[in-house]
Amino acid sequence: MPKSVHPADKQTIWITGASSGIGAALVHMLTGEGHFVIISGRNRDALLELQKPAPKLVKVLPCDVGDDASMAEAGALLRDITDQLDLVIACAGTCEYDDDLSLDIASYRRVFDSNFFGVVNTLRVALPLLNNVRAPVFVALGSLSSVVGFPRAEAYGASKAALQYFMDALRADTSNVALRSVLVRPGFIDTPLTRENDFEMPFLMAPDEAARRILSGIRRGKSVIDFPRRMSWPLRLLGFLRPVWFAVCAPRMTRIKKLRRG
Ligand SMILES: NC(=O)c1ccc[n+]([C@@H]2O[C@H](COP(=O)([O-])OP(=O)(O)OC[C@H]3O[C@@H](n4cnc5c(N)ncnc54)[C@H](OP(=O)(O)O)[C@@H]3O)[C@@H](O)[C@H]2O)c1
Repeated sequence: MPKSVHPADKQTIWITGASSGIGAALVHMLTGEGHFVIISGRNRDALLELQKPAPKLVKVLPCDVGDDASMAEAGALLRDITDQLDLVIACAGTCEYDDDLSLDIASYRRVFDSNFFGVVNTLRVALPLLNNVRAPVFVALGSLSSVVGFPRAEAYGASKAALQYFMDALRADTSNVALRSVLVRPGFIDTPLTRENDFEMPFLMAPDEAARRILSGIRRGKSVIDFPRRMSWPLRLLGFLRPVWFAVCAPRMTRIKKLRRG
């Protein structure tokens, strides 16, 4: 990947969480269009596999987005690879459900490290390089789960709600500068993240379709990209009608019948 030569119609893009699911689908789509893509995740072998079809367009940058030391190292390597980033997509994320309200703090920290602090780390490393282009874009993967409180999603949903606030604040703080921030809130996508789910996932979507909608939304200048609409509209409505959500929907969804005794 050239550090200084930059064809006008091709972008330099960094994607975290690229080793599978939505991130990998974005990599396929963007390299198919001839863009230079730097791919991150913890699984180096999966990243090398992803690089194989387009070795000239893809650079592998393994890192743990939740680990500050790993991200400092990745930042130095990133600056060796490129001096500018047109687009960053912070896709890295994980999900752990709290099945029985165990409030296992280690689990909550793991989820927040990847889903919230991972995005903050990614932006911190990327910001100076985003600042070197005319119209930089920073994208983070939130979730429609942050619209209302889902049973068992205390950790996951809270991390995505925190991320949503962070992206809103970032959008406010960058009102007068070139950086555009974009929050993506998908419904259920068929990836390794959801494959273990033991409940019905309405409107389950293929990762390729999710990637297509994300890129289309970014290119249409959207600040929030929600999909599928069949899921986002009812959830947003229930977000306004919170008493209905908690009185009618939540009791049918929760698996908690009684609380543990001390
Ligand atoms: N699938 C859905 O239904 C759905 C719905 C709403 C939002 N999302 C969000 O979409 C994003 C992508 O998820 P996905 O469905 O594509 O899941 P996935 O296939 O499990 O991909 C998650 C990616 O994140 C990486 N990752 C996780 N923790 C990391 C860390 N600490 N450091 C670096 N990389 C890390 C994983 O790679 P390594 O294991 O190699 O590190 C993997 O590449 C996530 O933020 C997820 O919350 C997904």
